[in-house]
Amino acid sequence: MRKPDLSVDLNGLKLHNPITVASGTFGFGREYSEYVDLNNIGAIMVKGLTLAPKLGNDSPRVAETAMGMLNSVGLQNPGVEYFLKNDLPWLGEFNTKVIANINGTNIEEYCRIAELTSVKGVHSLELNISCPNVKAGGLAFGTDPDMVYRVVKEVREATGHHLIVKLSPNVKDIKDIALAAEAGGADCLSMINTLTGMVIDIDSRKPILARGIGGLSGPAVKPVAVRMVYEAASVVGIPIIGMGGIANYRDAVEFLLAGAGAISIGTSNFVNPKVTEEVLNDLENWMMKNGYNSIDELVGKLDFPKANAGSCTFEVPK
Ligand SMILES: Cc1cc2nc3c(=O)[nH]c(=O)nc-3n(C[C@H](O)[C@H](O)[C@H](O)COP(=O)(O)O)c2cc1C
Repeated sequence: MRKPDLSVDLNGLKLHNPITVASGTFGFGREYSEYVDLNNIGAIMVKGLTLAPKLGNDSPRVAETAMGMLNSVGLQNPGVEYFLKNDLPWLGEFNTKVIANINGTNIEEYCRIAELTSVKGVHSLELNISCPNVKAGGLAFGTDPDMVYRVVKEVREATGHHLIVKLSPNVKDIKDIALAAEAGGADCLSMINTLTGMVIDIDSRKPILARGIGGLSGPAVKPVAVRMVYEAASVVGIPIIGMGGIANYRDAVEFLLAGAGAISIGTSNFVNPKVTEEVLNDLENWMMKNGYNSIDELVGKLDFPKANAGSCTFEVPK
């Protein structure tokens, strides 16, 4: 049996395989490099970067849920300059693409970080306009199509680098947001970020997270994410990196069939630090067994009888 071609081309961002790691769940790769050969990962989306170092939110800032976790980390990171000086050269030793996840509190800040990270060794920028865990910026930019268009367009004008826009699921219609990001000049979309959620300790009658509300991730969000990737892929012409609850190769294939050109693994890294390599190996074996020669043969190849296609979207009565 011939080995399949696992490489993907995300509108100019070429990965040797479609497995990436989701921002904020893999740090800058150092800790995970003890468990996983980073050369086996298509791309690393590094922890969200802000202009200045950030301590993040007060604790408790993570809580377990039945099928995933709730977090309110609040973009703790050492700042963009520290990353460029200390982490980027180290990441450059591996055969993996580096994606800088950038976060601003206003459009000027997004543009400034985009300019700073548009350097050799950073292969793509991931514009996070979907973080639910910070007061200013983040989600505020990602929920309104006009705002999404504005911020993406201004960042597009500030950099010629490959640009991914990360979408929030906490929106009315994901298709409008995806179209706005594409119109603004995104080369690629990544989705989904976390869904807002809450966990309460019944004995103290207090929310578990210090900030009350946080972002839900892990297996619980997967069907929502698959649906949103499917819907976005049906309206945009740019590729999508799908994520949300991927824990094994079958989850990964679901996203590819729904229309994702690559996938990202987040919360599952906490449960099993070797999950990326396992998904890669299992995906390759499954493709070989089933006669698939390339990832392209899977992307968007959902067998959805046309007659039923209209009923896939639940229309909320106005
Ligand atoms: C602890 C934690 C921190 C995260 N930090 C970021 C971040 O800094 N930037 C970002 O764009 N997304 C961040 N995310 C969202 C993930 O990248 C991903 O979009 C989301 O968790 C869904 O994927 P998953 O269910 O596989 O985790 C974070 C998620 C978790 C669980």
